[in-house]
Amino acid sequence: MDIPRIFNISESAHRLHNPFTPEKLATLGAALRLKSGTRVLDLGSGSGEMLCTWARDYGITGVGIDMSQLFTEQAKLRAEELGVADRVKFIHGDAAGYVADEKVDVAACIGATWIGGGVAGAIELLAKSLRPKGIILIGEPYWPRMPPTEEVAKGCLAGSISDFLMLPELIGSFGSLGYDVVEMVLADQEGWDRYEAAKWLTMRRWLEENPGDDFAEEVRAKLTSEPKRYAMYTREDLGWGVFALMAR
Ligand SMILES: C[S@@+](CC[C@H](N)C(=O)[O-])C[C@H]1O[C@@H](n2cnc3c(N)ncnc32)[C@H](O)[C@@H]1O
Repeated sequence: MDIPRIFNISESAHRLHNPFTPEKLATLGAALRLKSGTRVLDLGSGSGEMLCTWARDYGITGVGIDMSQLFTEQAKLRAEELGVADRVKFIHGDAAGYVADEKVDVAACIGATWIGGGVAGAIELLAKSLRPKGIILIGEPYWPRMPPTEEVAKGCLAGSISDFLMLPELIGSFGSLGYDVVEMVLADQEGWDRYEAAKWLTMRRWLEENPGDDFAEEVRAKLTSEPKRYAMYTREDLGWGVFALMAR
């Protein structure tokens, strides 16, 4: 069981697999006023940076589940590196349907809401692991302005315009699901650049090290097209943020 290989290659050097910089992640942790001993569940935990740094900085404990074997291994190494391996646990697996044995204080799905079949499904899934008055974190793209055409949405790697909402509508949708939005931290273009542009050097290096690999043609095609696609569409036309929710 694993994710498509292109992600394990292009994001192999990433600590954060989203458009947050380390500073934005720290801002989110501070904004949530995390206390020592806070229990956090992270579905689609990537390379574990959120749980590991919050364990180091705020003394949280956590469990992360991710379908990438590579990212899960990297998360375990990061936990050791930061001296928090006794506080965070990383599981390689499919997080769809995952419910924690013990209720958590914070349940997160950051940039992987498809795990629950979309935002509403992800919230429903996370709520099953959450203690009363706990906080749900959702990391999700939004349209900063309505894309003028479907081509622009596809350029942002959305299936269609309807895949995402504009920010006020996204925030409103949480209310319609019965949740207060109690905090939010939004990514900026610097963060997008760190997430997207960092893939290009990783792909370039991978191609130099694996010229005969069956996958080299696909990676080459991505490296050729991605910088321009990103600059033309995602950088200007896609927003991303993490929203903290509490049930009304
Ligand atoms: C955009 S990345 C976000 C990772 C992490 N939350 C972060 O922000 O750094 C999406 C993550 O979801 C993971 N993923 C995709 N499908 C999954 C599934 N069904 N179960 C668990 N993890 C999954 C991928 O391996 C990847 O790490």
